Formats: sequence, structure tokens, C-alpha cells
Amino acid sequence: MNEATLYLTSLAQALAKMSLYSDGHPARARAANASFARLRALQQEDPRPTFSFLGREVIYAQRTLRDLADWDWAQRLSGAGVQRLEFQEAVDPDSYHAFLEQLLTRIALASGPKERPHPISPDRSESAIRFGAVGVRGGGGAGGEAEGLEDEPEDRERFDLSEEADVVSWMHDEVVAAHHLPLAEAEAVIGSLAQAMHGSSRALIPLLSLKEFDQYTTTHALNVSVLAMGLSERLGLSSREVRGYGIAGLLHDLGKVKIPKEVLNKPGVLTDEEFQVMRSHTVEGARLILRADKHLDLSAVVAFEHHIMIDGGRYPVQCTRRDCHHASKLVHVCDVFDALRTHRPYRVAWEIPAILAYIERRMDTEFDPDIATAFVAMIRESEVRLARAQCIDEEPLVPTGEPVAQ
Ligand SMILES: [Fe+2]
Ligand SMILES: [Fe+2]
Repeated sequence: MNEATLYLTSLAQALAKMSLYSDGHPARARAANASFARLRALQQEDPRPTFSFLGREVIYAQRTLRDLADWDWAQRLSGAGVQRLEFQEAVDPDSYHAFLEQLLTRIALASGPKERPHPISPDRSESAIRFGAVGVRGGGGAGGEAEGLEDEPEDRERFDLSEEADVVSWMHDEVVAAHHLPLAEAEAVIGSLAQAMHGSSRALIPLLSLKEFDQYTTTHALNVSVLAMGLSERLGLSSREVRGYGIAGLLHDLGKVKIPKEVLNKPGVLTDEEFQVMRSHTVEGARLILRADKHLDLSAVVAFEHHIMIDGGRYPVQCTRRDCHHASKLVHVCDVFDALRTHRPYRVAWEIPAILAYIERRMDTEFDPDIATAFVAMIRESEVRLARAQCIDEEPLVPTGEPVAQ
């Protein structure tokens, strides 16, 4: 077992033991000391260890800890608002004990009424141990918490993707502030979205609705990813390809982190100059992705090509006409659908039937006909399922033993 796994196991053991004994009992101090010793051992090889907890997954040093797959404590910690845990080099026993006490309080509170997790403080020098919700480098604003994001009201409990939205928002901030794309976290989000898609017996597509318009980039990334995975699965692609398309959907607009906020969130139609700036998100996105990981070439291609129509129109302008990658054409239709269904400062949201009619009208010029036909069918089926689900929810329960009226 590696040192990171040994440390997290000791952390869970310490928390479990401490919750059994009252304040001042020597067993509490012993448990805390044992865990502190494990932390110091880990810091011999990694002076500033950082962990992310998402669902039942633990991410450490850019990868999922396999030894702790399906680890119950990952869920407990993230459920208590501890999605991210960062240690500086200078951790002393007293601050470590205090940290464990705070964790215990958080975990105890989490079993009571729900409150929003506190974000990690943006001040890195503040403490040797930092923990909280992922995200909020610099606090608040467009890259901030996922407050305001809400899942579809018709299926609220089933699709609570606020944790994933937090991670995507934090990911965008990391790219800007640390020039680093946290790939393991992105992959964990994809795994979590795949679970949300398959977790419902009604097989609905878990899309988020936008409440605050400056959170569009985060909401949109998640929705395009979900749609791309649903559509590629429907088209019979392998599970590996489905995840690859999901990552590409998640990262397709990553280049927007380079666009000034006043252009990105402008409450009106862009000028020609501003539109030129906005267009650069395709090239910037491809660059950022390739710089982060050369193996993400599919995502880079999609980031570059996702605004190109099948007749070669839109941008970036191609010097020589060539067919775009299948994934780019697929993400294009998902992208247009999610953009049109969302209310923007310069136009109202379109109704779903109007968007589907638009897509059908533009097959052969904008959208690949096979991909667009499958997409329209997927959304229509999902809409029918949703309507049925709403009818079932509204039906009064029939007492057992009584015949159902015909
Ligand atoms: Fe885009
Ligand atoms: Fe987009």
C-alpha cells in the first residue's frame, strides 16, 4: 500500500476512534498522533500532499487511488463539504489535532440539516492545512461556488450535480491561476456523470438548468459532456470512446478561460472586434489541452473544431476544406442544443421542439445527418420519458388490493 493510502486510512481510523471517546480521553490523542505520524511519513516523499474527494473516489497526485476505490470515507468527507484537502510542509501536531476536531464537527453537522460547503480560503499562506469545497480561487464571482446552479426541478433528488459543477468551476480556475489542467478530477467528473446517466430507471438525461448567467460556462460544459456521452453511447461507440467523447465535451470550451470576462459575460450582442476575441477560444482551448496532456489529442481536436459546420462554415476558417472529426461533429450538435435551450442576456431560451426543428432543418449544411438524426431521436425519447415520469409522480397512490380504474 502506498503512503497516501496509508495516511488516508489512518485519518479515517483517527476520526472513527475520536468519535467514540469523549474530550480529553487519551485514546483520542493516541489516534490523532498515529495519524499525524502517517502524514509526516507521506510528507517525506510529498511535502505538500493534496487530495480531492468526489463521490466515492479519491484523487491524489493526478490519479485515482485504486486501493481506495469505493471508499466509504471519501463520500463522508465530500458529504461534509470536504472535497479538497491540502497540506503545506509545516504542519505541527497541535494544528493537526485541531484540524481533526474540525473535521469531526463537520461530519457530525453533515448528518443534520444540509448547508453549503465552505470553499477553501483563497489565501494559501493562511494555514498549513486547508480543506473545504473545491473551487473559489479568489472567491465568489463567475468561477465561484455552484450556488445558483440547479438541477432539473422534475428530478431534483436524482440528479444533484452540484458537486461536479464545483469541480468543473475549480478546474477552470486552476487552468487560469496555476496553468494546470487537473485531468484526474475531470475524469472523475466524467465517471460521476456516467453514473448519473445510468442511475435512473427512467433513463433521463441529467441536464442542469442555469440560474446565474455568469455560471454558464460551468453548466454548459457539464451538459455538453452528458449529451455527448448519451449520444455516442446511442451510436454504439465503445465505453472507452464514450468516456473520451465525454471528456472532449467537458473541455470543448476550455479556451473561454482566456476570454476577458467583460466579453464573455457581455449582456448584449458582441461587436465584430469582440466576436474576433471570442472566436479565439477554439484555438486557445486546443493549446491549453495539448499543453496539459499530449494524450488528450481528441479533446484538443474537438476544442479546435466544435464550431465548424459540415459545409465548412463558421470558425476557425479552414485553409483547405477537410472533414472534421466525428467527435467534433457530435459535440457541435450537443453544443448548439444546450446553448439554444439556455436563456442568455441577449436572447430568451428556445423551446425544445423549436431547437429540434432547427437541427432538422440544418442537416446537410450545419449538422452531420446521421449524428443529428440520432440526437433528435434521443432528445424526443427523453422528453417522452420525462413527461411520463411527471405523470407518474402526479398520480395518486393506489391503495394495495384495490383495483386500478381503467
Ligand atoms: Fe465554443
Ligand atoms: Fe460550447
